[in-house]
Amino acid sequence: MAMIVIITGTPGVGKTTTAAALAKRVPDSVVCNVNQIITERKLYSSRDRYGTKVVKMRGLQLEIERMIRKNAGKNIIFDGHILCELRIRGATVIVLREHIRTIKKRLLKRGYPVGKIRENLVCEATDYCGAKSQANYRKVYELMSGPTVVDKILQLLHRKVPPKMQQIDLLEELVPVIKKEKGFALSIRS
Ligand SMILES: Nc1ncnc2c1ncn2[C@@H]1O[C@H](COP(=O)(O)OP(=O)(O)O)[C@@H](O)[C@H]1O
Ligand SMILES: [Mg+2]
Repeated sequence: MAMIVIITGTPGVGKTTTAAALAKRVPDSVVCNVNQIITERKLYSSRDRYGTKVVKMRGLQLEIERMIRKNAGKNIIFDGHILCELRIRGATVIVLREHIRTIKKRLLKRGYPVGKIRENLVCEATDYCGAKSQANYRKVYELMSGPTVVDKILQLLHRKVPPKMQQIDLLEELVPVIKKEKGFALSIRS
């Protein structure tokens, strides 16, 4: 049976890198980059205050379903953080996680606005994609990104390890990272 694998997670966790490395080790596989699909098919209505595309979710859902039909018989690997918000039947979802300071470094390098970086760091710390994925999918696994993650994904896909969702808690990493930011005061007064 052909597989549908979704790699989701906060921008900068390593989805695109991981999807490409996974595809090399999964026979008859194809990678679909969801951001590319959104841009090519103009599946966005406007841009938010950071210039990020506001996605037409219904249109994206239909397009993803069309891609699955088109690639019937192939193992399809979707790369996209937004897929945690959709429901794709039969998909195995991998929620990639990464340390808060690492994501910050990567997004700074990409030139993201400070506010957008902060938003993404909060998403990672609160496990936004993990929570959404759990609400929308049946098979969801969280894994730390890194050099051994492809091996771990393959073990999960081939059921060599018991399929068990283990949440990764990175919340405590957030405060030391945002505390370093200029003009950011963090205090609780009673
Ligand atoms: N395992 C890894 N080790 C070191 N750097 C990595 C790793 N995975 C990703 N990166 C780097 O992090 C950056 C973001 O990775 P990318 O795959 O583009 O993330 P995403 O697609 O989730 O936004 C890239 O510069 C990539 O080279
Ligand atoms: Mg990417």
